[in-house]
Amino acid sequence: MTLAVPPALEALDLRHSFGALTVLHGVSLQVRPGEVVAVTGPSGSGKSTLLHLLGGLDVPDEGQIWWAGERADTLDTQARAVRRAGRVGLVFQHHYLLEDLSVLDNVLIPMRLVGQSDSARAHALLARVGLSGREATFPDVLSGGERQRVAVARALASGPAVVLADEPTGSLDRANATNVAALLVALAREEGAGVLLVTHDDRLAGYADRVLHLLDGRFTDELPVYG
Ligand SMILES: Nc1ncnc2c1ncn2[C@@H]1O[C@H](COP(=O)(O)OP(=O)(O)O)[C@@H](O)[C@H]1O
Ligand SMILES: [Mg+2]
Repeated sequence: MTLAVPPALEALDLRHSFGALTVLHGVSLQVRPGEVVAVTGPSGSGKSTLLHLLGGLDVPDEGQIWWAGERADTLDTQARAVRRAGRVGLVFQHHYLLEDLSVLDNVLIPMRLVGQSDSARAHALLARVGLSGREATFPDVLSGGERQRVAVARALASGPAVVLADEPTGSLDRANATNVAALLVALAREEGAGVLLVTHDDRLAGYADRVLHLLDGRFTDELPVYG
């Protein structure tokens, strides 16, 4: 008998408003381990809000969020931060590397947060993103593409169930964007992590197993069809 593996990420009927502005009107999704799901949609459709909620950076007004089978939205802020470090990797348009820490130490941060500092693993991840030999370098001397590759290595460092990426290549030129996206997807697949990739870029959506379209706070695929 095999036990069912829980989804890497699951959201059930998320609703969220900022004051009078309702941004999410009931969004549900699942990402399976190793699956790459893209979310596209026009500016202002609620993509970043959705990603923040899924990553536990904010809590939804209504609905549920599950990380690898564990309910996340009901944890308090501190417990959520600890769980996030172990289960969720985040990549944003801006790299958010800590400038006073070396490349290696930046990759070790999520591992330290979960008490599993593994320098050999950090070296291996940096090698995998083409940054062998740059471990002692500081982020300010890296190119934009290199910084984003460090951010990708950091996102996978703790062995998360899912990586959430919000326009991760939005500030890169075409060649670097393709390279970073390909590395993110390849590395996540090797590690068995799911990926939720928010992007405007059709080429990036091309890396996904499934594409969901967000429009005015709803997935269009889930709109009811009236005869
Ligand atoms: N912290 C916030 N306070 C108020 N309004 C917000 C906040 N964050 C986002 N919004 C609004 O929510 C809507 C969706 O924004 P966002 O999720 O950033 O969309 P997208 O990432 O698809 O461009 C926009 O109208 C935006 O102005
Ligand atoms: Mg956005």
